[in-house]
Amino acid sequence: MNPLLASLQPYPFERLKQLFAPVTPNPAYAAISLGIGEPRHATPQLVLDALSSATGALSSYPATAGLPALKEACAAWVQRRYGVRLDPAAQILPVNGTREALFAFAQTVIDPTRANATVICPNPFYQIYEGAAILAGATPYYAPSDSALNFNINWGTVSDRVWENTQLVYVCSPGNPTGAVMPMSDWEKLFRLSDRYGFVIASDECYSEIYFRDEPPLGSLEAAERCGLRDFRNLVVFTSLSKRSNVPGMRSGFVAGDAGFLKQFLLYRTYHGSAVSGMVQAASIAAWNDEVHVRENRAMYRRKFAAVTPMLSEVMDVRLPDASFYLWAAVPGGNDEVFARELLAQYNVTVLPGSYLARHAQGVNPGAGRVRMALVAETEECVEAAQRIVDFVKGRTG
Ligand SMILES: Cc1ncc(COP(=O)(O)O)c(C=O)c1O
Repeated sequence: MNPLLASLQPYPFERLKQLFAPVTPNPAYAAISLGIGEPRHATPQLVLDALSSATGALSSYPATAGLPALKEACAAWVQRRYGVRLDPAAQILPVNGTREALFAFAQTVIDPTRANATVICPNPFYQIYEGAAILAGATPYYAPSDSALNFNINWGTVSDRVWENTQLVYVCSPGNPTGAVMPMSDWEKLFRLSDRYGFVIASDECYSEIYFRDEPPLGSLEAAERCGLRDFRNLVVFTSLSKRSNVPGMRSGFVAGDAGFLKQFLLYRTYHGSAVSGMVQAASIAAWNDEVHVRENRAMYRRKFAAVTPMLSEVMDVRLPDASFYLWAAVPGGNDEVFARELLAQYNVTVLPGSYLARHAQGVNPGAGRVRMALVAETEECVEAAQRIVDFVKGRTG
């Protein structure tokens, strides 16, 4: 057996199951879950139609490199969204959703024979980064999100020694669970560090289309161009249709950026057998080419967050995030596990303890004392959950 498997951490939802095992939720209330961050808005009809008219693709193996027509649609979207021109053949690669790609990328780029191979992950973070680092033979270094910096990371706190050993940095912007968008000044710093130390940046941007400010979140490709980074050196971005187009079950996204890394990534993926189904590629073309459903989707999230956030902010330290579909709230009393457990027991609402999404590192667990609430259900259900949380907090403190 691969001994590295034993170093993988239990997934946050396994820990939640254990936390909730002794709890009997109050039967007076129907269950509402704000726990799992899975999109639940309807899949657009145009994607369903494109899928059902592409069944002919099932009779042949798809190529791992992807259909030129899909790569062109992705490049056209990048151009419209970020004003950045990419070469579809060399700088874009379709993937089966970003989860597998984020994992596989570490297996491609990490050289475990170099001493102290290190991968920097944000903290809190999407747990795939950590597992990817571990199974690639590297050690994760957890860079804490700082509530004083709108939950961004102070890259200046990472020591030269850590940077010297770093081969890969995962960035998540907009962030899960914080919703924070990394500003231009931080990108400048990170690109300078990458130039100096030679690490590659994997920029996870799968929440880029769900945002609450007027201006859309800054993308890393856009930031790289503004910094004059030639050919997106040492930068690969990961993006997905799952949240943008409400198709988490379709498994479709793409990676873009440094052509040298993408060439090696394609080689790795060919052996791993990670080609995207031709049917899914056809439906993905339809999805990337349409922005109407994306605007409608965003408007639904905006209405939902506008209804829920002010209710919760009366009783908790929480505010509208820059982007994503999460609220990242500080819990009164400061114990996120106790808060989640008692909330389930008294009001049958599930939230995820923030400490489960983070590690204790650099002297702190930056998720402790917070909970993540995924506003993925219909507005009415989210508002009902918010009202119960308000009653719960008032009952505890009153
Ligand atoms: C931060 C982050 N990255 C990547 C993913 C994976 O999304 P997908 O594989 O559906 O593209 C998720 C899913 O929840 C996520 O939260």
